[in-house]
Amino acid sequence: MSNIKKIELHLHLEGAAPPAFIRALAAEKRVDLSGIFDERGHYRYADFNDFLRVYEAATSVIQTPADYARLLREVLERAAETGVIYAELFVSPEFCGKGDLSAWRDYLAAMEEVAAKMRSDIDSRGIVTPIRHFSPDRARASAVCAAETAGGWITGLGLGGAETVGKATDFAWSFDCAREAGLGLTCHAGEWGGPDSIREALALGVTRIGHGVRAIEDPSLVDDLAEKAITLEVCPGSNIALGLWRRWPDHPIARLMDRGVRVTVSTDDPPFFHTDMDREYRMLADSFGWTEAEFSQINQWAADAAFCDEATRTRLR
Ligand code: ADE
Ligand code: ZN
Repeated sequence: MSNIKKIELHLHLEGAAPPAFIRALAAEKRVDLSGIFDERGHYRYADFNDFLRVYEAATSVIQTPADYARLLREVLERAAETGVIYAELFVSPEFCGKGDLSAWRDYLAAMEEVAAKMRSDIDSRGIVTPIRHFSPDRARASAVCAAETAGGWITGLGLGGAETVGKATDFAWSFDCAREAGLGLTCHAGEWGGPDSIREALALGVTRIGHGVRAIEDPSLVDDLAEKAITLEVCPGSNIALGLWRRWPDHPIARLMDRGVRVTVSTDDPPFFHTDMDREYRMLADSFGWTEAEFSQINQWAADAAFCDEATRTRLR
């Protein structure tokens, strides 16, 4: 499957940090993170809330622009090895510099340098990602960071974190700010929340939904997504690892596609879910009989929905 050229629209930079990378940073900075790893050295978490706790603990040792640059290089190299030619990475200014957003430009400059150097192997863009359970106020500050640095590597605003905390529409100011700056908009919804949560995200004016898979619970919403050509950033391996569905054949991605919804495939936080893009494609082929036709279709939709300029979009198609 690594020979298939892939577009990945939903990849958290902090969540893509391999355990060995985090352990090395923790040792350098003399932070004891032993509690977040199991005996084999993998991340250990019990459920989604615990996943968020472990994720934040791991992220706490990624402390400088140089750390972010090293991480981005490693993550892009791994993605390129699995055939990814274009990736969009969620990055949270609320994690960079321990919440001191005045340093955001330094972090971004370090990441932009890496992205530019790696462009011939893998093209990439960044999506500024406020954390829903932190607060709408902190999200505003992140959205301002995004708006002020729009036009370079940063091309979008997303909203991640605990979907069941508050409403997506509590973040309307941030999304309006990003839209006015010309950024693409996406929002995690329909992962831990049901159809109503997806409708709230749509009210923000997004063109894409992170996950969105629980739309399957409401046929009229499925029709709406298809009609409005909303693109779902589906992360099946993440959903299975976090227990949303027990078995791959039960996952709704193929049913959503059959109903005309624009689905795409991503890994979310690959080391947390023991996955990569090759494995996602292999599991889709094994579970649903997907062949080149389906993979070509999802990558076409991903190119259409990518937060990039038209010339790049054309090249990706
Ligand atoms: N941040 C990282 N992974 C996430 C997920 N699967 N859902 C919500 N926020 C996240
Ligand atoms: Zn995500």
